Amino acid sequence: MPETLIIKIGGSTLGSHDTLEDLVALQREGKSLVVIHGGGATITQWLAIHNVPSRFVRGLRATDSETLDIVVAVLAGLINKDLVASLNALGGRAIGISGADASLLRCRLNDPDLGFVGEVESVNTDFLNELLANDRIPVIAPIGVLIEGDQTSKQLVNINADTAAGEIAAALGAHALVFLTDVPGILGATKQRIEHLSRDQAGVLKAEGVIAGGMIPKVEACLRANSAGVLASIIDGREPHNLLAIAKGDGIGTLVG
Ligand SMILES: Nc1ncnc2c1ncn2[C@@H]1O[C@H](COP(=O)(O)OP(=O)(O)OP(=O)(O)O)[C@@H](O)[C@H]1O
Ligand SMILES: [Mg+2]
Repeated sequence: MPETLIIKIGGSTLGSHDTLEDLVALQREGKSLVVIHGGGATITQWLAIHNVPSRFVRGLRATDSETLDIVVAVLAGLINKDLVASLNALGGRAIGISGADASLLRCRLNDPDLGFVGEVESVNTDFLNELLANDRIPVIAPIGVLIEGDQTSKQLVNINADTAAGEIAAALGAHALVFLTDVPGILGATKQRIEHLSRDQAGVLKAEGVIAGGMIPKVEACLRANSAGVLASIIDGREPHNLLAIAKGDGIGTLVG
């Protein structure tokens, strides 16, 4: 089995053409790739169109049932299909799924305050490995299904894309997890890029509020994956061909753990 690389594409860098080119190039080199995407900005736009306010708690989107419908439509519909079609148009072999497909991501509710936000309890790695063995790039929309008692229910839930990526990387025992986002890496108190952030330092910077908002679930996902032996990094998805650069081993962004 070739080395597996898990890539989370942030909503902020979704349109970046060279990232998609890099993914196709890495697939041609024989790498096993799994993509998880976000879509925060697009979801916020669609919520606004429907007059549904956005509310965040510790970097996570509070999700009532009205919000959930729009989250599912935008993530598993528009964004997922756009991404898959773009990859395939470049010659990739991508297939779009959500965490509801094949009960890929089974969840419990995260926190009653957050509504339908799932915490991943199990990942259907057999299903992902089948897709990888068929030389597909699974492109995953971070929607899950709720477990009630010990049964998989039909209730869909919203999962933070970073959290989902960390859980998938850990469950697959991936070689590396890479977050593509809209900053050069994790920035310290004086806005300098931190090349290597230890678990202890991460705790301190979170407590000090230097790591905040959307960076919190990213750092937590990195630490989660890292504890399962995965190399976890946060890099700038706006810089051309940064994905190829990190796959080659260039020291860009922030290595966490
Ligand atoms: N210490 C920090 N270093 C760098 N960025 C930080 C830090 N603390 C908070 N941030 C914020 O985190 C943001 C990245 O997370 P954000 O959730 O906005 O993007 P994303 O996860 O790539 O996209 P999406 O949520 O749409 O998938 C940065 O733009 C920055 O504003
Ligand atoms: Mg985010």
